[in-house]
Amino acid sequence: MSAVQESVVAGGGLNPELLRRDFPVLEREVHGSPLVYLDNAASTQKPQAVIDAELDCYRRYYANVHRGVHTLSQESTAAFEGARGRVRRFLNAPSEQEIVFVRGTTEAINLVAHSFVEPRVKPGDEIVVTHMEHHSNIVPWQLLCERTGAVLRVVPISDAGEFEVADVEAALTARTRFLSLVHVSNVLGTVNPVREIVAAAKSRGVPVLVDGAQATPHMPVDVQELDVDFYAFSGHKIYGPTGIGVLYGRYDLLAEMVPYQGGGDMIRTVSFAGTEYADPPARFEAGTPNIAGAIGLGAAVDYLLAIGLERIAAYEAELVAYAAEAMAEVPGIRLIGTPRRRAGAVSFVMPEAHPHDIATILDQQGIAIRAGHHCTEPLMERYGVPATARASFGLYNTRDEVDALVAGLHKVNRLFGLDT
Ligand code: ALA
Repeated sequence: MSAVQESVVAGGGLNPELLRRDFPVLEREVHGSPLVYLDNAASTQKPQAVIDAELDCYRRYYANVHRGVHTLSQESTAAFEGARGRVRRFLNAPSEQEIVFVRGTTEAINLVAHSFVEPRVKPGDEIVVTHMEHHSNIVPWQLLCERTGAVLRVVPISDAGEFEVADVEAALTARTRFLSLVHVSNVLGTVNPVREIVAAAKSRGVPVLVDGAQATPHMPVDVQELDVDFYAFSGHKIYGPTGIGVLYGRYDLLAEMVPYQGGGDMIRTVSFAGTEYADPPARFEAGTPNIAGAIGLGAAVDYLLAIGLERIAAYEAELVAYAAEAMAEVPGIRLIGTPRRRAGAVSFVMPEAHPHDIATILDQQGIAIRAGHHCTEPLMERYGVPATARASFGLYNTRDEVDALVAGLHKVNRLFGLDT
């Protein structure tokens, strides 16, 4: 029985001590201390099931997909398309044809900007984002505005790191052509009321993309319940491989879209007189895809579904609340954002110590956190800081690890003469 199955059979809540056994890297030491991995918002570690799935593909049946009549190609194709089916279940999408494999969230947003939004905007039209977006949900829209003469509008956020549905409604005008917003902030951990926002936007005829990179590891996501037009996420944030991600798009919208990239595997027929494109999703998957990556992603999805996203959400909500409360008590610390609903991340600054100093001192104790602007420079500006330190949590983190982090933060203070 795998640790996952044991933890599920144990019933009730998730047992992180059992799950940790599935993640080989968590056994290692860093600078003589057990690794405490709290950089999950940047990237998560991989369970053996994901590592095995990729290895198995390369060892036993690897070949190119959709192209060969030979056995290996057929087996690879079946595994690759099987992963698409797993992702469909993960998002509760109505159809596998709505699941487009991409490199990650960034590529998904660029694809939608080019293929869906660009043909629909005129100079002076507006694209709406929020102040807590990652650069990957800002820069593609700025590029689009440069190309088209459209204008980017920004929904403001409160000091707590939240916005209300009414704030989004206030930003939507007769010129709004698209709304693109984050489900969970990678810095603040804020969980946005996406369902209500999508309803408000769609009642005004505004299509919506949701960046789910930081939501999918932490909670169930149902694209039908959210009623969203596009939803993007990255494999490496949900315990899957790097270089593979997903764009969910409503089929009727995908079917209207021109491809973002041309090449092999995305066509029905090609002649020098012109090209007829394949139906979605193949239309958006030009070139040889990340075959083993998609198969690994399918294994990651299976892993999460076996544990249960509800169970993960309940466990992590309690753990992250415990962490935020304990961290807030460290003398001098300032938490950046105090949202009512938080998932995954707790960002902070400390007096005297630069975030990079904090991360370096913690690393000496085996504790991995991230320091920097987290690809959210406008958000840093909003809080008047150049950078933050950020602890971010996953399903294998424990209260003992939170206690180790808090002890490490006291040590940071001691080294800067602020805590005894
Ligand atoms: N977007 C990732 C992060 O927040 C890389 O760290």
